[in-house]
Order: sequence, then C-alpha cells, then structure tokens
Amino acid sequence: MSENRWDAQSYAHNARFVSDLGMPVVEWLNPQEAESILDLGCGDGALTAKLAAMGVDITGIDHSQSMVDAAGKLGLSVLRADMHNFALERHFDAVFTNAVLHWTRDIDAVVACVALHLKSDSRFVGEFGGFGNVAAVVTAMRAAIQLEGAEDGGFSWYYPSPNEFRAVLARHGFEAIRVELIPRPTHAPTGMLGWLNTFGVPFVAHLDAKTQQRIIARAVELLSGSLRDHEGNWTVDYVRLRFHAVLGTGEQA
Ligand code: BEZ
Repeated sequence: MSENRWDAQSYAHNARFVSDLGMPVVEWLNPQEAESILDLGCGDGALTAKLAAMGVDITGIDHSQSMVDAAGKLGLSVLRADMHNFALERHFDAVFTNAVLHWTRDIDAVVACVALHLKSDSRFVGEFGGFGNVAAVVTAMRAAIQLEGAEDGGFSWYYPSPNEFRAVLARHGFEAIRVELIPRPTHAPTGMLGWLNTFGVPFVAHLDAKTQQRIIARAVELLSGSLRDHEGNWTVDYVRLRFHAVLGTGEQA
C-alpha cells in the first residue's frame, strides 16, 4: 500500500473506532511506568497518547507523513518509517502494534525488524486482522470488480490463522507465544460507503476514479443484505488476531 494514501483527517472521521477499540490489546501489553515501548504503525497517535499517559517512554513509527504530523501535534515522539525496514539504533522493552500488520506485504521482514529492536527477554504484543477478517467485504469487492468487467488488481490483506502466525513468530526467535482469534463484529459509524472509501481503495486503486466509485457502490449494494440492519446500521465482520510473545535470549544482547 502506498504510504501516503492515509489522510489523518478522513481516517479520524471514518475509522476512529480502530484506536477506540484498542484497549483489550493494551491490557495484554500491560505497560509499566517508564518502560521503553515502540508503537509500530502508530497512526495519528490516538492509542500512543494513551500509553504516554500511563507513564510509558513511548516512540511511534508510521509510514504516512500525514499520520506522523497528526501524532506530532499531540506532542508524541514519532518518526516516519516503513515497518518492513526500519533502523532506530536502540532497543525497547516492548514493541506494540494495533491494526497494522494486515497491511504487510512481507511479514517475515516486519517480524525480523521487530526482533532487532527488542532487548532479550522482552515482548512483542499486538492485534490485527486474523483469518476470516472482513471476509464478506473482501468477497463483495471481488464480485463487484468482476461484475464491472474490470481487471482484478490482486490486492489482498494478510489474515493468517493462529498457527500460521505462531510459526512466523517462532521463526524469528519468539517464545512463550500466545495467539487468539477473536470474532468482533464492529459498527461502522459512517456506514459501508465510509468504510470502503477509507479501507477498500487498494482493491481498485489501479482503475480510474469513476470505475472505482461504481465498484464501491456495487459492493455496498451487495453487502446491504447481510451487514446492514433494518435501521440502516452497518456492522462489519471483523475477526482479530491478538498475540503476546517474548523474544528468546539468543536474538539480542
Ligand atoms: C482491520 O483492522 O481489521 C482492518 C482495517 C482496515 C482494513 C481491513 C481490516
């Protein structure tokens, strides 16, 4: 995904629930005062600020300049960096991530980079889309592209099963791995159109603007029978993969 696609203002309008629903994974992180923690893909810093308020020595990285600017305005220490390839020249007590890893194009590159930034015996804790996440939405977008007679650009999110992700963590020296798949039907406050205009664009980014809008409108129509209730409220079929893992002593001095 292009790093500059994210606009902090429209994200806050259509997707504030992403950080609002992040507290259960913060509980798994169990942050302690003065611990050094890296927030991987901190976005506009809404959840990062909550960690800062708990007394954590928090650093955020994000690939979008718009998000980095928004987080900087909250007084947070944030840098622009790619999760696949970052080098901060320091080691943290924990790396935390919320709703970011499903955007990866190479999970091994990300987890290897995380391991390089952790002290030995320290933890990697996070949550992202797991196996089956937004399955109805993905199917509707693919169907709408076909019905339009347009080319499928081949975009997909990374939604591993717990076993698949456990194996990734183990490959990079993580131990004591806990992984849970958690269905979490989620209200979309600006409806399916708002959701798809924020998150669905990578499926159609290779097409012209009018075709994109026709496909998104068709997907909304296809989904209305299953994800919209009789009062017009939309509920998206989210499934979270939540994890906690500790870096073994072999990886980092
Ligand atoms: C998620 O948090 O699961 C998600 C976010 C954006 C697009 C798809 C899924």
